[in-house]
Amino acid sequence: MKKLEVFGATKLKGQVRISGSKNASLPILAATLLSNKKIYLKNLPKVKDIETMILLLKSLGSKVNFVKNKNIISIKNDLKIKTFASYNLVKTMRAGILVLGALLAKYGKAKVSLPGGCAIGTRPIDIHLKALSDLGVKYKIVQGYVYATAPKGLKGSKIRFPKISVGATENLIIAASLAKGETILSNCAIEPEIKDLVNFLNKMGCKIKWISKRTVKIIGCKNLSQISYEVMPDRIEAGTYLIASALTEGDIKICGIDPKIIKTEIKILKKIGTNIKIKNNEIYVKGNKSIKNIKIKTSPYPGFPTDLQAQMMVLLCKASKSSIIKEDIFENRFMHVAELNRMGASISIKGNTATIKGNIKFNSAELMATDLRASVSLILAAMAAKGKSKINRIYHLDRGYEQIEKKLKKLGAKIKRTS
Ligand code: EPZ
Repeated sequence: MKKLEVFGATKLKGQVRISGSKNASLPILAATLLSNKKIYLKNLPKVKDIETMILLLKSLGSKVNFVKNKNIISIKNDLKIKTFASYNLVKTMRAGILVLGALLAKYGKAKVSLPGGCAIGTRPIDIHLKALSDLGVKYKIVQGYVYATAPKGLKGSKIRFPKISVGATENLIIAASLAKGETILSNCAIEPEIKDLVNFLNKMGCKIKWISKRTVKIIGCKNLSQISYEVMPDRIEAGTYLIASALTEGDIKICGIDPKIIKTEIKILKKIGTNIKIKNNEIYVKGNKSIKNIKIKTSPYPGFPTDLQAQMMVLLCKASKSSIIKEDIFENRFMHVAELNRMGASISIKGNTATIKGNIKFNSAELMATDLRASVSLILAAMAAKGKSKINRIYHLDRGYEQIEKKLKKLGAKIKRTS
């Protein structure tokens, strides 16, 4: 079992380049199933979830090739595609459910494993299924699989999501892209990764237009073109490095991401005392000795992202007074708290609200990662702690952070992978 050893305390210094976005790449990879033409994708992050999604596409019959020495893959779906997405692939990467909309749109049927829950929540897909049935999909759930068919093909409809859901918005935009007629989706999630998916689909020849903040109009189309597309950078990775520099009183430059897509995070970090300057689209982050406390809650974009909640919690342990974080998206996303408390933090939880005591000095410890973002929060705390920490179950980390040890080492962290 691989683990990470981190020797603190470290002040991060230097420059880091942000990789492609995992959460933009996953729906875009699923959406390639809509086309028979060759598609070139650039800037996919080399992380486990992308490997798993590519395995899933290959299990469906996609031809996937890596273009030598370039960060480019080619995908072709002209062969007879199976429409069965198995549990063993979908259970570790819940975004596998995103092939459901594409398979139904293209082939009119699909058997896709229910994603199943994970450490942070039950991860239901009721919103996806209800909205797909509004497009004419018939489905039943048998032994953990969704058996879905669109006997008369998908027909455009007006759909309002009962709750903002990133995955449901993505699944329906993909499905509606080939549906007959016009679909209007309202109360959509508007994460930048969804905008990237829409840009990708429109470049293939789909007709998708945002007609108000959370409403999108999709006119079903037939002929899609061969394209190449570069996936956007990962805003959660960027936010993680922002917080890492603030936490370690570091002085780093973050390259390769448009600061506008993380303006909420930048605003909050400035509010608690971090020095952040933006010059030619590069972000200079200088950590400050004193950090002010704050009260924040996670919410759908453009609010503070739930995927940075664990990382922010580590930073707020260093604030001068107690802070509050309310987790409004997932029902169980405080698994990192117990581990942080073992490092000397004093965080108490009441329902979905955490109270974080300030003025904490982290002590090194042996730790257990529980989910992707919790695992990176343990690395942050370990870099701020004096002495050597060990972090187990880092397979969680490898799902979503490309070359994190290499990038952190380049910034001066003492970190190594051991087995
Ligand atoms: C996406 O998950 C991201 N994953 C998550 O990132 C992210 O935390 C989440 O959006 C919120 O921003 C990918 O993009 C691959 P949701 P998703 O549907 O689509 C409930 C990471 O660390 N819900 O917006 O699953 C759901 O239980 C991952 O990279 C229903 O009730 O999130 C949750 O409470 C973790 N019924 C809330 O909505 C449904 O049918 C938001 O979920 C769907 C969702």
